[in-house]
Amino acid sequence: MTKSLSQWDKAKREGRRMSFITAYDYPFARLAADAGMDGILIGDSLGMMIAGEKDTLRVSLDQMEYHTRIVAAGAGQCLVMADLPFGAFEESPAQAFASSARLLKAGADIVKLEGGATMVETVAFLSQRAIPVCAHIGLTPQHVRQLGGFKKQGKTEEAAAILLADARALEQAGARMVLMEAIPSPLAATITQALAVPSIGIGAGPGTDSQILVLHDVLGLNTDRAPGFAKKYLEGANLIREALAQYASEVRTGQFPL
Ligand code: KIV
Repeated sequence: MTKSLSQWDKAKREGRRMSFITAYDYPFARLAADAGMDGILIGDSLGMMIAGEKDTLRVSLDQMEYHTRIVAAGAGQCLVMADLPFGAFEESPAQAFASSARLLKAGADIVKLEGGATMVETVAFLSQRAIPVCAHIGLTPQHVRQLGGFKKQGKTEEAAAILLADARALEQAGARMVLMEAIPSPLAATITQALAVPSIGIGAGPGTDSQILVLHDVLGLNTDRAPGFAKKYLEGANLIREALAQYASEVRTGQFPL
């Protein structure tokens, strides 16, 4: 487990791959830390995973601050990354600073924001003011209305070149990590090699420095449709349904309590 960003940089230099998972509360943060996870993201995917919304757009900074606090309480030595939610950073670098400061005060080690070249000025502003930033490029779910759905990005030569240029510019501006979502594997590998800072991939193949998945997809707790690239390591929903059904049945039949 590696808490500090310099340890992540070292892992990249040494070619050690790192693991990231999302978490939204204390018990799962503790379990992730106990399992030896390297990093935990309080993702704005919480809007979909725990609030039952169809996208991440309604997630507020208050929600992110609260969930960051309760995750950080259980995160142990994991690096804690928190998402800047839609509407909390795009207006100006000053707005992004005020929002990021709240997330750092709540326990985040680094904030993540979605966007490419348009976010370069903001990333520079934050980086020069003690806020470590991870830039999220490729499929950026906060742009779902503009993108017309949760679609793979960077598929044409031109789109791939823009993503590579964006990643370089964001690193130049001070981004300490770059997360790439749903882009072709060779492109993610090329961008990873072009960057000195660690890359994180989701649906971007094996060529990134670390991988992240959404907790509810990994544990089989997402009863809506999980993305095709996610891997389920547990039939969590079935196990929980069975346990709850057994409890309900034991109450009805008088088997519990004795
Ligand atoms: O919000 C989130 O969980 C994310 C991951 C999908 C990377 O941004």
